[in-house]
Amino acid sequence: MTGTAEEALAVEAHGLVKSFGSNRAVDGIDLAIPRGGIYGVLGPNGAGKTTALRMLATLLRPDSGEARVLGHDVFTEPKRIRELVALTGQFASLDEDLTGIENLVLLGRLYGFAPAAARRRGMDLLDAFGLTDAAGRQVKKFSGGMRRRLDIAGSLIVTPRLMFLDEPTTGIDPRSRNQVWDIIRTLVDGGTTILLTTQYLEEADQLAGRLAVIDHGRVIAEGTPGQLKAQIGQGALSVRVIDPADRPAAEEILSGVLGTDITREADPAALTASLAENRTAAEALAALDRSGIEIETFSIGQPSLDEVFLALTGKPAEEHDSADEPETEEAAR
Ligand SMILES: Nc1ncnc2c1ncn2[C@@H]1O[C@H](COP(=O)(O)OP(=O)(O)OP(=O)(O)O)[C@@H](O)[C@H]1O
Ligand SMILES: [Mg+2]
Repeated sequence: MTGTAEEALAVEAHGLVKSFGSNRAVDGIDLAIPRGGIYGVLGPNGAGKTTALRMLATLLRPDSGEARVLGHDVFTEPKRIRELVALTGQFASLDEDLTGIENLVLLGRLYGFAPAAARRRGMDLLDAFGLTDAAGRQVKKFSGGMRRRLDIAGSLIVTPRLMFLDEPTTGIDPRSRNQVWDIIRTLVDGGTTILLTTQYLEEADQLAGRLAVIDHGRVIAEGTPGQLKAQIGQGALSVRVIDPADRPAAEEILSGVLGTDITREADPAALTASLAENRTAAEALAALDRSGIEIETFSIGQPSLDEVFLALTGKPAEEHDSADEPETEEAAR
């Protein structure tokens, strides 16, 4: 498995499996993650995101399947992979009793920095993450958002080629979340590939160039956020005619061209049509134009990733909480 095609991939996995007892936490996952940019792994509680990441970071040995990370085999070259990647866990790996700078110096020393150099690197990182004021404060007195930022800072002592971020913004407020998003984007600008897991559809939509949706240890959809939305094919065309008297005629034309449900809105001049494909919206608008009906406004809306998840799994993401009751997972399938 060498050659140019493969070198373009940061992660290439085929049929990865990991079971805990009778629970197949990761049940045959394939991934092809390009270098550069942000790749999202989206899934509800217990979907297998952390387990998949831990196998790719060589912290957990797969039961079967194969995976190469930055061109190196997870079974035979784990040490090499660990030198090249960073993993920031769902649960921060900080020493609560140490201060912000002490945590970073400790990590720097583990990476082989001399004491003064470790301190310099630590202070630079605290500065970059807006934590200079908290340098001398014990981590147990940090807020959740500060902890998250320090944790990410700690994984950047040496700039990784590939960074695994496991739910980097779970449980933090919107402002801290935006700061973490900015940090992630800056890393990508610096050439680091990011593999990020999230339960937040909006986060995947905002950050990821491509994403895999996983459920019960399997990839159930893969593509760009736009492709996933288009795959569901449930965009909507909203039209507002100038004269409400034209609405019945407009409804007939839309229905004829689109062949989908047309909803009469409470506003007597407005109609909304669901779309099988976005490009048919253009045909519908052209037909309205030819008929001489005057349109005041129109808009084409894409479905949200929430709707994508609902369409893919038949359930909204929130109702998927199986982590506390793994015995029901089989029954639910
Ligand atoms: N060390 C372990 N021992 C036993 N079972 C485990 C272990 N780690 C994970 N599991 C089980 O494997 C399944 C997948 O867990 P995993 O932590 O990978 O999910 P996740 O997608 O990261 O969920 P969350 O969003 O809650 O973090 C769950 O059913 C979980 O209970
Ligand atoms: Mg997890």
